[in-house]
Amino acid sequence: MADALKLGIAGLGTVGASLARILQDRRDMLTTTCGRAIDITAITARDQSRDRGFDVSGITWFDTADALAANADIDVYVELMGGAGDPAYSSVKAALSRGIHVVTANKALLAAHGTELAEIAEANGALLNYEAAVAGGIPVIKALRESLTGNTVSRVYGIMNGTCNYILTKMEKEGLGFETCLKEAQRLGYAEVDPAFDIEGNDTAHKLSILTSLAFGTAIAADDIYLEGITNISIQDIHAAAELGYRIKLLGVAQRTESGIEQRVHPTMVPLDSVIAQVEGVTNAVAIESDVLGELLMVGPGAGGNATASAVLGDIADIAKSRPGAQNVPAFGRPVASLAPYQQATMQSHEGGYFIRLSVEDRAGVFASIATHMAQNHISLESIVQRARQHDAANEPQTIILVTHATTEDSVRKAVAMVKGEGYLVGEPQVIRIERPKAS
Ligand code: HSE
Repeated sequence: MADALKLGIAGLGTVGASLARILQDRRDMLTTTCGRAIDITAITARDQSRDRGFDVSGITWFDTADALAANADIDVYVELMGGAGDPAYSSVKAALSRGIHVVTANKALLAAHGTELAEIAEANGALLNYEAAVAGGIPVIKALRESLTGNTVSRVYGIMNGTCNYILTKMEKEGLGFETCLKEAQRLGYAEVDPAFDIEGNDTAHKLSILTSLAFGTAIAADDIYLEGITNISIQDIHAAAELGYRIKLLGVAQRTESGIEQRVHPTMVPLDSVIAQVEGVTNAVAIESDVLGELLMVGPGAGGNATASAVLGDIADIAKSRPGAQNVPAFGRPVASLAPYQQATMQSHEGGYFIRLSVEDRAGVFASIATHMAQNHISLESIVQRARQHDAANEPQTIILVTHATTEDSVRKAVAMVKGEGYLVGEPQVIRIERPKAS
């Protein structure tokens, strides 16, 4: 039997501790499956004294991740600290430069430095595996990087942040406020260290940038993502969506268009009868539309210690099973030299349906004026609804909701600006894009 695969793990938080426990509890099973044992030989974490539920005897502690990555006698460096900067960045670079394989769950790191790290990995014959970086336990990286080779992908989209999906689901089902739901997600260990990364959409954007590169064969371009989080979504929007046959999800979408590739993260109305609308709580879902296979939808646990550890473990097992001299799978599915530059499609040219909620003064001509501005911008309406007054007071604002047929972002922005200019709006208009699965 081959020698044991030696792991150095940096970061023993929720994911790292889950991983270490599983590796030790299932050592025999993994040895049989991989044809060699997998042993943790080096670790580093902020607190050396804490009991994390696994046996640390015989494991060498390092004071820093950089020292571990540069000096430890290991085959694989497992980076589970997170963050785009050092020590994650410096230690991953140090390990790859030594030709040591890297397994990481760090989406922020890959979004910021993925192309460069892939280059270093390739130059040194090392693997850079990161299944856990996107959609937790769902094997979407393997699907795009390996299984769909030969397909041309036209769109990839999904629910990739468990915290946001948990909040939106709980708000709808239990009628609870945003803050209460966020606190519960934090308590359950789903949220990022800074939850603004979840609710403002950055976490989804990091993940989307990785999928875009894999799906379209382009260099990572995380700075070119259009970004809107869920902090503006009210219970009123959630209820209005349901009445009109939609549900609100935070989606990340990357799509090939005539003018380039769109990358966008924003609250999105999806048809209530679509599969993605049924994805609840911390569950994630990723849809990939491609020419040979057609539509693939993967649904599964997207956050939390065990879900993420499962994906990390799969990456480690892949390395354990590979044999010396075997060809490495390139980090982004193709040699770095053949990644194309990312060509961005502007948001103004985005085409799709829109939900527009307006709070307006209750006076004659407002309804007609709104309809006129839509028509002036060539926007065709699927539905227009005016809510009956909630109280019997003549000067209460009225709510008007429009759902458009396919139009452009440019037309919608112009029409809404015209409506705003009329002076009858009370508060800011709410605009939410509609995304339709291919089949619906
Ligand atoms: N904060 C992330 C989420 C964790 O809520 O999905 C997984 O990346």
